[in-house]
Amino acid sequence: MESVGDHLSDSNGVLCIDGISCSEIALRFGTPVFVTSERRIRDSYRRIYDAFATNRKKFRLHYALKANNNLSIIRILRSEGAGADCSGPAEIFLARLSGFSPEEILYSGNYNSDSELEYALRSGCIINLDDATILDRLLAHGDPSIISFRINPGVGKGKYEGIVTAGPDAKFGMREQEALSAYRHAMKAGIRRFGMHMMTGSNVLDAEYFPIVSEKLMGIASRISTELGIEFEFIDIGGGFGVPYQPGEEALPIEEVAKSVVGVFETALSGNSRMGDPTLVVEPGRYLVCDSTVLLSTVTHVKRSYKTFIGCDAGMNTLLRPALYGAYHEVLLANRLGMKRNMVANITGQICENSDMMAKDRNMPEASPGDILAFLNAGAYGFSMSSRYNTRPMASEVLISGGKAEVIREREDFTDMLQRQRVPAHLL
Ligand code: LLP
Repeated sequence: MESVGDHLSDSNGVLCIDGISCSEIALRFGTPVFVTSERRIRDSYRRIYDAFATNRKKFRLHYALKANNNLSIIRILRSEGAGADCSGPAEIFLARLSGFSPEEILYSGNYNSDSELEYALRSGCIINLDDATILDRLLAHGDPSIISFRINPGVGKGKYEGIVTAGPDAKFGMREQEALSAYRHAMKAGIRRFGMHMMTGSNVLDAEYFPIVSEKLMGIASRISTELGIEFEFIDIGGGFGVPYQPGEEALPIEEVAKSVVGVFETALSGNSRMGDPTLVVEPGRYLVCDSTVLLSTVTHVKRSYKTFIGCDAGMNTLLRPALYGAYHEVLLANRLGMKRNMVANITGQICENSDMMAKDRNMPEASPGDILAFLNAGAYGFSMSSRYNTRPMASEVLISGGKAEVIREREDFTDMLQRQRVPAHLL
C-alpha cells in the first residue's frame, strides 16, 4: 500500500485506521464519514513541537482551529499543550469552551467588524491586527494590555495560488512603514507589551522557505525595535508547514526547518539586544491534523460512457479542496486494496455542478456501487470547509482512540436543515 503513515494499514486488502477496518466503520456509521486517528494527531503534535522546543526554550505552538474545529480534536491538542490560533469570535468561543485560557489564545482576524473587535477585547485574548488603522477602532472599545500586528513581508508561498497569504497580491498584513507607525501609535496609546506576526502561505514543502521568510520578519522586527525602543514578547512566524498529498512529494523535514528557523531567529536577537528575548511562536493547522483523517465515501454509481465517472456520496460539499483549488487527494478503494489500477476515471460527488470533481483522470481500480473510497489527508480544511449545498446534510465525524471508534460529530438529518428558518404566516 502507498506509504501514508503508520496509523493506516492493509489488513487482507481492507484499509484499517489504527487497526479498525474502514469497511466496518462505513457499515456502522454510514458514509460520508471523516475518520480520525487520535494517536496520529498526538504524534504529529509531538514531532513538530519537539523539533522547535529542542532548539529554543522560549517556544510556543498555537493550533489553528480553522483547519479542523471539532471540539474533540481541539481538546486533544490542548491536552498536548498547544495554545489556540483563532480567526474570529466563534473560534475564540470554541477555544474558551475547550478550556484554553485567554492568554493562550491569539486572535488573528482580518477586515474585522467593530463587534468582533469588541468580542475579542472582552474575551481577554491576545489580538493581532491586520491593518494599522484597525487599532483606533479597537481602542474605542477599551485598552488591550498587549498588541500584535500582522506583517506582510512582501513574499508568500503556498501550494496553490489561493493559499498564498502574503506578497503583493495578498489581502493580509501590513508593510514595514505601516507597521512602524502602528507600533508607534500603540505606544502613544499606552500599550507596553508587543508581539509581531506573519502568515505567508499554506502547505509549503520547501524547507528552505521558512528560514528565508523568517529572516525577513526578524529584520523588520529588529528595525522597528531599534527605531521605537520596544521589545517583543513574541514573534509568530505563522503556520504553513506542508504535508505530502500526492505521489512523489516528500515530507517536510521539520527538524531541519525548526533548526534553521531558530538559527535565523537567534542570530537576529543576538545582533540587536533591544529586541528582548521574545518567544518564538508557530501556529500550524494542517501539519497537526491533515493526515490523521480519512474521508470514507460509498460508490453510488459508475457511468461508463464518453468518459468513466465513479460517483460517490462525498462531493465538493463534503471536501471542497479539489473543486476550489484543484487540490489533489489520494483516493483508495478501501475495501479492496492492492487491486490493479487499470482504468482512468473522474471521481465525482452528487452535486449539480461540474466543478464537483474529487479527482480527474485518475488511475483507479475497477470500482462498483457499494465499494468504499477513502480520500486521504482529509483532516485539515475538510469538514471545516464543507457545506450543505444542494441541501445535503453535513457528514459525520468519528474518532479512533484506544482501539475504539466513537462518533464525535453526528451526521445531520433533513430536519437540521430547517433549523432557524421561519416561514411567514401568509406562506404557511
Ligand atoms: N495562522 C493563520 C493566521 C492562518 O490564516 C492560517 C491558515 C494558519 C495559521 C494555519 O495554516 P496551516 O498551518 O494550516 O497552513 N483552506 C486552505 C488552507 C488555507 C490556509 C489559510 N490560513 C486549504 O485547504 O489548503
